[in-house]
Amino acid sequence: MDAKNTPVQHAIVGILSLALVSIFVFLLQISWSVAFARVSFILLFLVLIIGPITRLKKPITHSPYLRVPITWRGEIGIWFFLTALTHFIIVLIGSPLSDLIKMGGGGFSLTNLLGLIALFLGLLLTATSFGKVIVFLGVESWKWLHHLAYVIFYLVSAHLVYFQFFSTYGEIGPDWFGYLAVAMAVLVIILQLTAFVLGIKKHRNEVCPIN
Ligand code: HEM
Repeated sequence: MDAKNTPVQHAIVGILSLALVSIFVFLLQISWSVAFARVSFILLFLVLIIGPITRLKKPITHSPYLRVPITWRGEIGIWFFLTALTHFIIVLIGSPLSDLIKMGGGGFSLTNLLGLIALFLGLLLTATSFGKVIVFLGVESWKWLHHLAYVIFYLVSAHLVYFQFFSTYGEIGPDWFGYLAVAMAVLVIILQLTAFVLGIKKHRNEVCPIN
C-alpha cells in the first residue's frame, strides 16, 4: 500500500509523463488526444505490474525513494487519472458527449462508454488515494476498492482494442502501439496469475509443511 504521496515524487512522475506525451506528439507526430491516452495506458500498466512484482519479490532496500514499486504506486496512479482526464477533455473539445455516446451509436458509442466507466472508477480510486481518506476507510475497505484498478485496466484495454483493431483510423489494422498494448495486457494477466498460483503454494506450505 502507498499511503504517502510526496510532492517530489508527484513532480518526478508528472514531468516524466508530460515528457513522454511530448515525445509522442513532437517526435512521433501523434495527436495530443492519442498521446495522453497512450501515456495514461502505460501508467496504468505500471501500477498493475507493481502489485504482483512486489508480491513475487520483496523490496531489496529500506530507503523510501529506492523502494520503487510500493512507494511510487500512488503517484503513478494519480497521474494515470490526470492524463486520462486530459485525453477525455481533448476528445470532448472535438465532439460533444451526446455524439460520443448515443443510443444506436454502435461499437464507437459502446467503447466510449467503457472509457467513461473506466474514468469514473479512476476518479473513485484517485479520490481515495490520500493518507487521511485511507485512514477514514480502513485498510481492508481501501484494498477492496483498489482492486478495481484491474477492472479499469480491462475496460481500458477493451476501449483501446476497439480503436486499434476494429476501427482503422483510416488505415488497415493496428499500429505499433496496438501490438505493444496487447503484449502489455497479456503480461499483466500472466503476472496476476503467477502471483495467484505462488500465493496458493505458499498457503499450502504453511497449512501442510510436509507436502
Ligand atoms: C480511463 C479513461 C480512458 C483511458 C485510459 C483511455 C485510453 C485510450 C487509449 C489507450 C486509446 C487508444 C489510443 C491509440 O490509438 O493508441 C483511446 C482512444 C480513444 N478514446 Fe479513450 N480512454 C479513456 C476514456 C475515454 C472516454 C471517456 C472517451 C469518450 C467518451 C474516450 C474517447 C476516445 C476516442 C474518441 C479515442 C480515439 C482516438 C482519439 O480520438 O483520441 N476515451 N483511449
